[in-house]
Amino acid sequence: MAVGTAASPCIHLVGAGPGDPDLLTVKAWKLIRDAEVIVHDCLVSRAVLDGIPNHATLIDVGKMPGHHPFPQDKINEMLVDLARSGRRVVRLKGGDPFIFGRGGEEADYLARHGIACEIVPGITAASACASALGIPLTHRGLATGVRFITGHCQNGELEHDWLGLADPKTTLAVYMGLANIAEIADRLTEAGLPGSTPVAVICDGTLPHQTHLIASLATIGDLAAMLNRTGRALFVIGQVVNLAPAAKLMEKEAALA
Ligand SMILES: C[S@@+](CC[C@H](N)C(=O)[O-])C[C@H]1O[C@@H](n2cnc3c(N)ncnc32)[C@H](O)[C@@H]1O
Repeated sequence: MAVGTAASPCIHLVGAGPGDPDLLTVKAWKLIRDAEVIVHDCLVSRAVLDGIPNHATLIDVGKMPGHHPFPQDKINEMLVDLARSGRRVVRLKGGDPFIFGRGGEEADYLARHGIACEIVPGITAASACASALGIPLTHRGLATGVRFITGHCQNGELEHDWLGLADPKTTLAVYMGLANIAEIADRLTEAGLPGSTPVAVICDGTLPHQTHLIASLATIGDLAAMLNRTGRALFVIGQVVNLAPAAKLMEKEAALA
């Protein structure tokens, strides 16, 4: 495990996982436990933050929707300054730092400024949320692959290869999709994915207040509109959703009705 010093500065870019502190890796926990400074974003759960020893200085650079207390370039500069101070610095990010986490940009900036960077992967939301509902992301005969996509549009446009995504044998895990799920569902249906394709949405996965909803591509847009827009939500689209015990129960109840 690399340790930062003023002579050989280093940042540990650490994934904090989906929220449940028990899902931190052992390596992440050791680095957090020994850190002098922890720079974290708003996806790191309260439960994980509460477990950080008091001796560490916490710096919250969290970016809430529509509110940007710390622009990315300021975060990058702060990391370089902290690393050069020779302290043990952890840059803590929700889930995995390299999946929709801008970890790559930070690692690149640090490298260009001569700062070593140790990457510690975390459990990403797709794995955690699917597991929390008992959904295997791949399954022989149902899904030969899984794709992680963003549902967030940069310039008002969702720029995906919809024809490529509308593959009934591929599971889709949609991050940051709450605001645009109706459009995503429409685009996938237009591209040929049947409206009956099951969809699960998991909100605040792995946390005590986790909730979920199971619907279909045809109904998810209307149903998701009723969900709390401020929480974190991950959509799983594909036949594997039918393997969730909750989906099987719904099917049984529908057959009895
Ligand atoms: C900016 S991305 C960061 C993803 C993160 N780096 C990861 O690997 O999970 C934020 C999105 O991740 C998803 N997400 C993260 N944690 C989640 C959780 N506990 N439950 C549901 N979705 C989650 C949501 O789609 C949220 O909008």
